[in-house]
Amino acid sequence: MSYSYPGVFIVIEGVEGSGKSTQCQLLKAKLSSLHIPAIVTREPGGTRTGEQVRQWLREGSDLNRLSELFLFSAARVALLEQVIIPELHRGSVVILDRYIYSTIAYQGFAKGCDRIDIDSINKIATDNLQPNLAFLLDIPPKKSFKRKSCEEPDRFEQEDLSFHNLVRAGYKSIASQDSKLWTILDASESINTVHDKIWRRVTSSNAIGNNKD
Ligand code: TYD
Repeated sequence: MSYSYPGVFIVIEGVEGSGKSTQCQLLKAKLSSLHIPAIVTREPGGTRTGEQVRQWLREGSDLNRLSELFLFSAARVALLEQVIIPELHRGSVVILDRYIYSTIAYQGFAKGCDRIDIDSINKIATDNLQPNLAFLLDIPPKKSFKRKSCEEPDRFEQEDLSFHNLVRAGYKSIASQDSKLWTILDASESINTVHDKIWRRVTSSNAIGNNKD
């Protein structure tokens, strides 16, 4: 299906502690300062179903990679239907913290779910909705983990370094296959440097100019 809407869909991906949520908020603030309507939302979450699924996924001890795949997808369906699609139709810039690429990297590359199955489930869940731009905040997990707060680690954060290295390699493989969609950034640089690079890419793409008026 091909979509037509006045909004712009931007996805930010990366391993834990790569600075995704900070960069999402900085991008939103920049857009808002220019009076461009923008929202930030995250996966899993952003809806009642999504937040419940997030809770299960963080704690559920009897979940395997397949049930994770379906739960992340169920949360995604709710978020698309209730938030993302309506905002894109309203003309907003939707900044999403994690999307289908997290499923490919975590459940696929790191946990070994079949890639063809993941691609079909992602396609069904999203009706093949692709972002206009995607950013990979790339950083070695060994470095990014030092930035994490001392909150109780969830199931994913408890995985060992080799798991997170597989996630990182998965992301790099996904992003390097589509240079029109993806910008890979060195997330060990300062917050402001990363933000400037994101902003430069956003303004140099046609996406925002087209949605401004
Ligand atoms: P979260 O606390 O949001 O982590 P972060 O702040 O790093 O985004 O927890 C989400 C976790 O779920 C994170 O470890 C990545 C994982 N995840 C998947 O495994 N598959 C997915 O499809 C998505 C969206 C997230």
